[in-house]
Amino acid sequence: MAVHRRVTSAAIGARKGGRFPVVTAYDAPFARCAEAAGIDIILVGDSLGMVVLGYDSTTQVELQDMCRHAGAVARATTRAHVVVDMPFGSYEPSDADAVRSAVMLVRSGASSVKLEGGVTAAARIAAIVAAGIPVMGHIGVLPQTAAMGAGYRRKRDSVTLLADARAVEAAGAYAVVLEMVDFRVVAEVTAALGIPTIGIGAGGGCDAQVLVLHDILGLYPQAPPFAKRYAELAAAATSALAAFADEVRSGEFPGESHAAGGLENGAPDVAAYS
Ligand code: KIV
Repeated sequence: MAVHRRVTSAAIGARKGGRFPVVTAYDAPFARCAEAAGIDIILVGDSLGMVVLGYDSTTQVELQDMCRHAGAVARATTRAHVVVDMPFGSYEPSDADAVRSAVMLVRSGASSVKLEGGVTAAARIAAIVAAGIPVMGHIGVLPQTAAMGAGYRRKRDSVTLLADARAVEAAGAYAVVLEMVDFRVVAEVTAALGIPTIGIGAGGGCDAQVLVLHDILGLYPQAPPFAKRYAELAAAATSALAAFADEVRSGEFPGESHAAGGLENGAPDVAAYS
């Protein structure tokens, strides 16, 4: 069996000062697309809850959901680093719970895990790192707890953000996501840290940029204003499906070349997903 070497967390940490892309993916087809596009860090984000599972927030996402989707992304890629979000409730109760959940994610295919929080999450980050599992931090707007008081508004308090960023780095994280952080504070935090900062809705001052795949591809109707749309796949999918439906109704599909089993055109008589 071929042994593939994935990009390591240490290699990502060494990209400090560079500019590199990160994208979310949740399934095999899009993970293959991301890797083929040359993106070698794929985040299986808990945005899964909204963009794939149809929830209205990330808080309903369970550890089993993340394990299943992490596995799909890992099986479809060979070189990409697969960082997987620890969902709400999977790391807060204790260091032991955090390590147990992180181990499950690694067993499912994660190369590293990501969790939300700065000073308050530092002990959990340190415990997971001590267990040998690399951790990506996430500060600024924290979607898992935003609806319960932390808020979705852009974070501007540089004292708090610097303290959070430093705590995450000191706990052993190899990189940190800055979500919806004021552009001036982003520059301060990025300069203060020895690990790469990865921005989302935080301007161009971070070392890296991450976007949600479904926002990039035009597959999620509620994409945030900071997300640039590079394709209109929902529209393309809808028109392809409408063409299929029309052809079935008119009898045009299946024509001779798509006849059952392909017997008529000499193709093997096998089921597609056997
Ligand atoms: O879940 C996710 O997609 C994320 C990104 C917004 C960074 O955490």
